Amino acid sequence: MRARVVLDRDYAIGEVDRRLFGGFAEHLGRHIYEGIYEPGHPLADEDGFRRDVIELVRGLGMTVMRYPGGNFVSGYNWEDGVGPRSERPRRLELAWRATEPNEFGANEFIQWCRKVGADPVIAVNLGTRGPEDARRLVEYCNHPSGTELSDWRRSHGFAEPHGVRLWCLGNEMDGPWQMGHKTATEYGRAACEAAKLMKWVDPEIELVACGSSGRFMPTFGAWEMEVLDHTFDHVEYLSIHTYLGNREDDSASFLAKPDAMDDFIEETVACCDAVAAKRRSAKRIMLSFDEWNVWYHSNDDPPHEPWSVAPHQLEDVYTAEDALCAGAMLISLLNHADRVKVACLAQVVNVIGAIMTEAGGPAWRQTIYHPFALASANAQGRALRAVVESPLYDCRERQGVPVLKLAAIDRGDGLTLLALNRDLAQPLDMTVDLRGFGPLAVGEWTVLRHDDLKATNTREYPDRVRPASHSGAAVDGAQLRATLPPASWSVIRLVCGIG
Ligand code: AHR
Repeated sequence: MRARVVLDRDYAIGEVDRRLFGGFAEHLGRHIYEGIYEPGHPLADEDGFRRDVIELVRGLGMTVMRYPGGNFVSGYNWEDGVGPRSERPRRLELAWRATEPNEFGANEFIQWCRKVGADPVIAVNLGTRGPEDARRLVEYCNHPSGTELSDWRRSHGFAEPHGVRLWCLGNEMDGPWQMGHKTATEYGRAACEAAKLMKWVDPEIELVACGSSGRFMPTFGAWEMEVLDHTFDHVEYLSIHTYLGNREDDSASFLAKPDAMDDFIEETVACCDAVAAKRRSAKRIMLSFDEWNVWYHSNDDPPHEPWSVAPHQLEDVYTAEDALCAGAMLISLLNHADRVKVACLAQVVNVIGAIMTEAGGPAWRQTIYHPFALASANAQGRALRAVVESPLYDCRERQGVPVLKLAAIDRGDGLTLLALNRDLAQPLDMTVDLRGFGPLAVGEWTVLRHDDLKATNTREYPDRVRPASHSGAAVDGAQLRATLPPASWSVIRLVCGIG
């Protein structure tokens, strides 16, 4: 099988925003407790954060981190999580039927973000609360001093304002599962008023309004237009979420599913631009893809003990094919770099996480850790508009799926290709015509694959699925040739200046 790609250095999609490599940490299951924060752990630092987890998160190269939910945020009182720990209340947490001890809150989250090198992104509760509480949280975090709330933060040990730049106006407010679920009109009004108050406190902040929880939502499309009719002048971003799974155990279909993410992005952009057109506005609303991942393994897990603290919930153990799917989702995001400016892998630790931990024990990389870390490290620069001629296949999911899914990033000092061969049995001979780059040579080729698509990384075998160096790619004149192994995801780094 053969595929041909044409790349021209002048044909760019747009600059890759570094915030495309974000994460999402929710008070859910063992994400915070036993994941990020475990004061009794032998590797805990002076703040009770697990050092092993900090190191692994740093390895992901995450640039932003969204918090505290997710569904959790729609019932959350942020005041419960600040101040002396001994005075913080324990609460029933209704989204996930657990008890929230509130030992970890906004200040701990921001401290942890600084340690992992990510900028905090905070979601406000527009479910059970509203604009006034959102305004108060912005004042608590970002106002320097001299008011009750800013001085409250200072009394909690944080003299300097946190300077949180990006805020989410609620979470998945279109979903009936959400506490305080709203119609598009109800949400649009609340989000507009919250946005005004929050920006009056701090005009430097940027805001994300809730788009649809998924393309499957019956309100998708109408929701976006109505919400933006109310919020267009007050927000910079609209959110979009996607989780994929292979419940049917049909790998060819599973690997085709990320292409629906491209459709979803393009349809959401069309809604944003239709609202702009109605207003004769040149403003472009950008997308925050602030939840994306594979999520299905844990769907049939037995229920946890209700109202326990940090129960095992949503602990998907990821396979090699899940890593290929996550890699494909990253390609979809990069190929929309002109409109998707923020994206968050949902989630980071234990809960549908890139990292798994054992209480009191080790932490290890799940299979999906690898494509994320590789993309974050190598996909910096300008995304190029690749012309791809690939063999096609049909599957239950969709017809005419290109076997090759590819993103190309002009790094300035060379070119990075992210390439997925979706054929489960055949290698794919790929040629890439390189126009306008000058002399290039193959720097490094890293391949993620496993003979067993169902292979997992576990406590005992944490490195069963991991990337490996690959050889055999060559640049001849202005053409790259590489044979992609079956069912594999590759990062090929070409370097400039070597003739
Ligand atoms: O990430 C898990 C959950 O998925 C989030 O809480 C919610 O926003 C989404 O439905």
